[in-house]
Amino acid sequence: MDRHDIALIGFGGVNRAFAQIVHDRGERLADELGFALRIVAITDLRLGSVMQSDGIDLAAVFAMQADDTFAGWRGGAAVPQNDYVIRHTTADIVVEATFTNPLDGEPGISHVRTALESGKSVVTTNKGPVALASGELNRIAATHGVFFAYEGSVMSGTPVLRFAAETLKGLRVTEVQGILNGTSNYVLGRMENGLSLDAAVAEAQQLGYAEADPTADIGGSDVQLKVVILANEILGADITPADVTCEGIVGVTPEDIARAAAEGARWKLIGSARRDETGAVVASVRPVALAATHPLAGVSGATNAVSFDTDLLGTVTVSGPGAGRVETAYALLSDIIAIDAAQHAPIEVGS
Ligand code: HSE
Repeated sequence: MDRHDIALIGFGGVNRAFAQIVHDRGERLADELGFALRIVAITDLRLGSVMQSDGIDLAAVFAMQADDTFAGWRGGAAVPQNDYVIRHTTADIVVEATFTNPLDGEPGISHVRTALESGKSVVTTNKGPVALASGELNRIAATHGVFFAYEGSVMSGTPVLRFAAETLKGLRVTEVQGILNGTSNYVLGRMENGLSLDAAVAEAQQLGYAEADPTADIGGSDVQLKVVILANEILGADITPADVTCEGIVGVTPEDIARAAAEGARWKLIGSARRDETGAVVASVRPVALAATHPLAGVSGATNAVSFDTDLLGTVTVSGPGAGRVETAYALLSDIIAIDAAQHAPIEVGS
């Protein structure tokens, strides 16, 4: 049976959940998908790194205690050695799930670049490299005959990027708009129930929705990166975060929420990108009080939704989880499935 050997760069909530999926469902998935998954390298700021080309015992990894590291393990070290592991791992796919850096995308961009240049495909949920360098990284992947996939960079495992690229083929998408941050949507909902912003953010952190630094969630910069990704991937734009005006939910007060509720409206953080009459892409992130009849007004909790305005089909909306460890880990699996399918696709004949 075919097999993909995987290196996990970063072992926080998402990659740990991915490893758990491989551990718990690997056999069933292999039967269903026709290929096996094996984890051959893990790096982590706290645990250090381990490389074992015959497959790491995941049960032993899950059993590690708070102060344990990989020092003393076969192929193990107390330090992450990300660059070394990415270059030397026997994995054919590197899963990059370190933290999102919205300013310069590092160290994620370097991790992805190094992996692609050393002939490994990369899947990531890290928005930094995708929003700030997808053009360059896709070119490197093509040059080296490998794949760069990032479905989980927008709306976790809910299909958005591949859905638009494959299922909406033949349509012209003129606008994309949605609720793209689970934390802020959850927080706005809890504020409707009377919680303070801080208490609601703390809950969202507990539930694994929020970024390591939740100011990215409530300040709007998380959505800003996702709007860049949607605009570049779906509208064929070439924009950066600086091209997206950005206002988060920090300024939405309990009084605003009460006033909207009295009018039957709900505050939502809306990210959008559209082509104007000149063909230029106009993109923004801002809180909006939506009338109850608006299709996005009923999207609650950490659920996200994105609407595509199309020429032949009108508006198509996809809704589903936008955050969460397992939900985001599923995006990694879906990318690996897509890579495997692309590797087995018939070779195109002709010019
Ligand atoms: N913190 C993000 C959210 C996670 O709340 O939506 C997914 O990017």
